[in-house]
Amino acid sequence: MKINVALFGLGRIGMMHAKNIYRHPRFKLKYVYDINKRASVNASKKFNAKNINNPSFAFKDKKIHVIFIASSTATHVPFIEKSVKYKKVVFCEKPLDLNINKVVSCKKKIKNLRPKIQIGFNRRYDPGHFSLKKSLLKGKIGKLEKIIITSRDPAPPSFNYLKNSGGIFRDMTIHDFDLVRYYLGKDKIKEIFATASNVSNKKFSKINDYELATCILKSKAGVISIINNSRHCSFGYDQRVEIFGNKGMLISENKRKYNFFIDRYKSAYKLQLNDLFYLVKKNKKSRASFDDGEKALFLANAAYKSLRSKKTVKIK
Ligand SMILES: NC(=O)c1ccc[n+]([C@@H]2O[C@H](COP(=O)([O-])OP(=O)(O)OC[C@H]3O[C@@H](n4cnc5c(N)ncnc54)[C@H](O)[C@@H]3O)[C@@H](O)[C@H]2O)c1
Repeated sequence: MKINVALFGLGRIGMMHAKNIYRHPRFKLKYVYDINKRASVNASKKFNAKNINNPSFAFKDKKIHVIFIASSTATHVPFIEKSVKYKKVVFCEKPLDLNINKVVSCKKKIKNLRPKIQIGFNRRYDPGHFSLKKSLLKGKIGKLEKIIITSRDPAPPSFNYLKNSGGIFRDMTIHDFDLVRYYLGKDKIKEIFATASNVSNKKFSKINDYELATCILKSKAGVISIINNSRHCSFGYDQRVEIFGNKGMLISENKRKYNFFIDRYKSAYKLQLNDLFYLVKKNKKSRASFDDGEKALFLANAAYKSLRSKKTVKIK
């Protein structure tokens, strides 16, 4: 039997998810919902799903197994709470919210309802980035000592998007904070130093945001991670990871032929969907959980604290 999905949000990433769900042999895209009715109707026609005018319709339908949240960030927490209440499995795009207090309060509310939630940290599913994790676990580079992540977007999103994005650390670096945590495994981050600036595009300063950022994190075991971000890149989307250990070094190379995240992480988004299948059908813990979403946001907040104070911030 196929897994029935109701997809909320049909913008940039929602349309991509709609296509992947529609094409996946184990899922059925049953409902689509967006406050922008045109977007929703368009998706319903394209992917043979029913357009609904009210999300309650999906929550109340017992045949819906998954609520797939790809709507704007501010909608994530309320949709998660409602989905869990109605015993739905949840996929939710990152970030969980821009306000950590809302995330903590959501966690408390849903805790006793045994939620099954997967977060859209797609980098964890990228075959290249994931192969580093596998090699690390097999001991191929010995003891992990350094993680170096470069993540540069080809061009910034619209300033309308940026204004409500929560800033570079919560919107963009959040993926890299999560990836660092993924490679660290049981080891935990104990401190962070963050810096950011605007050199070429001063419009960022007007919205109190940054086009360039670098974070240095140190773990309890002493692993140093360097995250290198830019909102623009003259030679295209630049996504690379290097892990260095006492017995070697491995790189997940940049893939220059891809323009942006939808192409570059195409396989990752598909593998992410397979993970959702295992979460629904086999009760297998998702590779990226609600807790991972919370912890990455916590690090983003600590990065802002460091940026403002110009000091290294301890992570409790
Ligand atoms: N994992 C990734 O690689 C990745 C990439 C891009 C965006 N995202 C995340 O996905 C989310 C959406 O980003 P986007 O770039 O697609 O934004 P977008 O603005 O293109 O699309 C958001 C859509 O949500 C709809 N929406 C807003 N409120 C709604 C509500 N209450 N109910 C239903 N629909 C509603 C909007 O009308 C819009 O169509 C954001 O949280 C973003 O951070 C993740």
